[in-house]
Amino acid sequence: MAIKKFVVGCFDDEKVLFPAVKKIRHTGYKIHDVYTPYPVHGLDEAMGLRGTSLHTMGFIYGLLGLCTGLGGISWILTIDWPINYGGKPSFALPAWIPIIFECTVLFSAVGMTLTFCFLNKIAPFVRKHHFHPRATNDLFVMVIETSAKTNVDDLQELLKSLGSMETNVQVAESEWWLGLYSNPAPVFKMTMIGLALLTALSSCDSGPKRVQNRVYMPDMAYSRALETYDDHSNLTEEGVFYNAKPVSGTIARGSELPFLLSKDSPGSTTNYQKAKLINNPLTTLTESDMKESERLYLIYCAICHGADLKGNGPLYKDGTGPFPAKPHNFMADPKKLTVGEMFYSMTYGKNLMGSYASQLTTRQRWMVLSYISSKLSQAQASAAPTLPIPESTTSATASPSHNSTKK
Ligand code: HEC
Repeated sequence: MAIKKFVVGCFDDEKVLFPAVKKIRHTGYKIHDVYTPYPVHGLDEAMGLRGTSLHTMGFIYGLLGLCTGLGGISWILTIDWPINYGGKPSFALPAWIPIIFECTVLFSAVGMTLTFCFLNKIAPFVRKHHFHPRATNDLFVMVIETSAKTNVDDLQELLKSLGSMETNVQVAESEWWLGLYSNPAPVFKMTMIGLALLTALSSCDSGPKRVQNRVYMPDMAYSRALETYDDHSNLTEEGVFYNAKPVSGTIARGSELPFLLSKDSPGSTTNYQKAKLINNPLTTLTESDMKESERLYLIYCAICHGADLKGNGPLYKDGTGPFPAKPHNFMADPKKLTVGEMFYSMTYGKNLMGSYASQLTTRQRWMVLSYISSKLSQAQASAAPTLPIPESTTSATASPSHNSTKK
């Protein structure tokens, strides 16, 4: 920010300005700038200015935006957070073209704007030195930089002879920082400092926790999620369709494939018979899975079938309990039910026993059956420890998985 001395010449006509600019340049003086009220074609050539580098920069910014867009999106969607959209490949270049294009345009537009401001030394709160107030109105103002050797009086004479109607000498800051340190009004300064302080202070507020009775964005703080056994009637009143069922044909992540046999029509046992062929798909259950299976059995089944699986739970109590029908005795099973049949009965219900399809997922139902099978084989093993355990009773936990209906 060197302070320099400038000689200023003012012209009121383009036709006089052009030859004057050329003459001054050829005499060897260094023209700082020529200020005109409107863009004058050819003046840059007359002053010997080189072409602007704005387009080159624009290209570079665009390239940068392209790389950022392409790099960012491919890193996110292939490495950081790959999402399977209907089996499409993670690296889906055609789908990304719009986003990459937008990035390119954004970078070059913003970058070129900033470069333009930089090249022209325009910035908020920066006031430049004005060599003549009429430069924005009707005067062409030529500003010549002087050095120690320059004879200022000679130069002013030369300007006058070239048609300048007014010449003077001004001292101002030169280079990039020309006039950058203009002094803003104290009111403005205080306002800016006040705003900065306010921003800093407001960021210290930790939000909803400290202020009681007031919540910032309550529907973000408190979940409005719909719970399974909530009353959803208000949704219907408001015209929202909600039947609380998963979309048909869909399977939740990590769950078993659906049970393909449908419920028999009354009087028919076709599918119940077919269910015999279905095996328990859960062949390897961990210890914690087994614990969970036992828990589920005790919650959902033991009340009727008994904790000992003998069909005499507290609801039946040898016929003295409130439940009228005798539950199935798993331990002494006259019907020799297969796991498939049991699964069918659990899924669709059996006479007075209701369906458990809505309380237990497919996997949970098979888990309960794994528990029952393991209890059965334990009982048989302790009753006849020397005999090998029959295949049929262990099939549920030990045989290889058969997930679908066999013909
Ligand atoms: C409210 C009492 C009750 C509960 C709870 C109950 N059951 Fe039953 N269950 C019965 C009765 C009663 C029968 C006998 C139905 C018949 O054959 O008429 C039965 C029969 C069965 C049968 C034999 C079905 C057939 O095909 O003959 C199986 C298997 C069975 N229950 C499994 C379960 C499982 C597993 C649970 C836990 C998820 C369960 N039950 C919960 C009352 C109950």
